[in-house]
Amino acid sequence: MSHQNLAIILLAAGMGTRMKSNLPKVMHPLAGRPMVQHLLDGVSSLKPQQVVVVVGPGMESVEAAVAPHPTVVQQQRLGTGHAVAQAKPALDGFTGTVLVLYGDTPLISSSTLQAMLTRRQQAPNPAVVVLGFRPDDPGEYGRLVMGAAGLEAIVEYKDATPQQRNIGLCNSGVMAVDGQKLFDWVGRLDNRNAKGEYYLTDLVALARAEGASCDVVEGATSELLGINSRAELAVAESIVQDALRARAMANGATLLDPKTVYFSWDTQVGQDVTIGPQVFFEPGVRVGDGVQIRPFCHLSGTEIGAGAQIGPFARLRPGARLAEAVHVGNFVEIKNADLASGAKVNHLTYIGDARIGAGANVGAGTITCNYDGFVKSTTEIGAGAFIGSNSSLVAPVSIGDGAVIGAGSVITKNVAAGALAVARGSQMELPGWADRFRARKRAEKAADKKK
Ligand code: UD1
Ligand code: MG
Repeated sequence: MSHQNLAIILLAAGMGTRMKSNLPKVMHPLAGRPMVQHLLDGVSSLKPQQVVVVVGPGMESVEAAVAPHPTVVQQQRLGTGHAVAQAKPALDGFTGTVLVLYGDTPLISSSTLQAMLTRRQQAPNPAVVVLGFRPDDPGEYGRLVMGAAGLEAIVEYKDATPQQRNIGLCNSGVMAVDGQKLFDWVGRLDNRNAKGEYYLTDLVALARAEGASCDVVEGATSELLGINSRAELAVAESIVQDALRARAMANGATLLDPKTVYFSWDTQVGQDVTIGPQVFFEPGVRVGDGVQIRPFCHLSGTEIGAGAQIGPFARLRPGARLAEAVHVGNFVEIKNADLASGAKVNHLTYIGDARIGAGANVGAGTITCNYDGFVKSTTEIGAGAFIGSNSSLVAPVSIGDGAVIGAGSVITKNVAAGALAVARGSQMELPGWADRFRARKRAEKAADKKK
């Protein structure tokens, strides 16, 4: 459904003092991406005509994160009402509905926002629709004061009377406002209140004083949590994680202990995948059908082909691309490497900047020595090759198809297909040496005692 008559103002200028951070609040990640991007993703399906993001001075990271949406800078953080006023030039002449969103309330679903837009279209076409919710602990949220004609005012916690603090219906911060009125009302806000700020929330009382009708749509608390502190960030993270776990399971994955699996917002998990306890996904991971990920794995920027077996204790780093039926075992790290189908790297190994052919077997303790302190070089291992345990492959180097590398080798030169290469000290044997050695030492000891 297209809403050509919708514009969005997203407030993100606050530093979030309560976060105690150098990072702007809206850049703190949830499931691996900044909260402001969660929000923008959520609103994109409403197809707004325009999105304007209000940022603070020097917030280049936020500007980059919200691109290509335009930003306006609120030079001084004088409150949410003042922040909205900064978007006026960008929305000059806009007469549709303006939806104001707070960057620190990122879990909101597009269906909840849609319900607000729908309410604006229904009689009596309220000029302002506020998104309310009833959290278990209303804490310091603004309170919604209802009257016979609907919403009468929003009272900030710090300014509320004890009776008003008893109201359970809270302000999520999200507001849908008639674009023909918004900037007129916002321009008339004052800062005579406990915080000395221009509160956007005072707009409701202004609208009511002019006889405009204001209404409330109630949403789910799990969507409307405002993130002002690290503790609230942690609660939001657990809500997001639960949703991602539920999604993976709904798509046909088994999570042996769901609470201990951490997904990224973009993790793609196929059908009949089994994920053991304590597995962590960073962004950019795609898991094919039938894959088994055993406990204690860490995955990032990785593609895993159908039927592969990973872990326990495997680390797959960006650029690891595993074809179908690859086995990666315990204490194996793989970075920027292609493993063709059926390749096995099962124990205590580092593979970096490499291509490994189909069915190759990489023995325990193998290291691709990809870095000389200046440049990274590539190791190629042919199809069906066998790398003996504890070998060092000093890149750039290539091992031909079907070649065998003797255990403990340090390979510095290319190895032809089908050849055996052994590069270590050759074994020598002195028959009877150990017996003669002990006899001599015993005799020396006995002679010493007699002295
Ligand atoms: C606000 C609401 C409160 C509501 C709560 C919901 C006001 C006055 N209060 O309080 O009623 O219950 O959110 O979470 O609106 N911002 C700016 N410029 C500013 C100030 C804030 O861009 O000058 C942005 C912040 O980056 C943030 C958002 O506006 O994303 C909300 O600001 P915040 O300070 O978190 O308001 P709350 O105290 O949470
Ligand atoms: Mg807040």
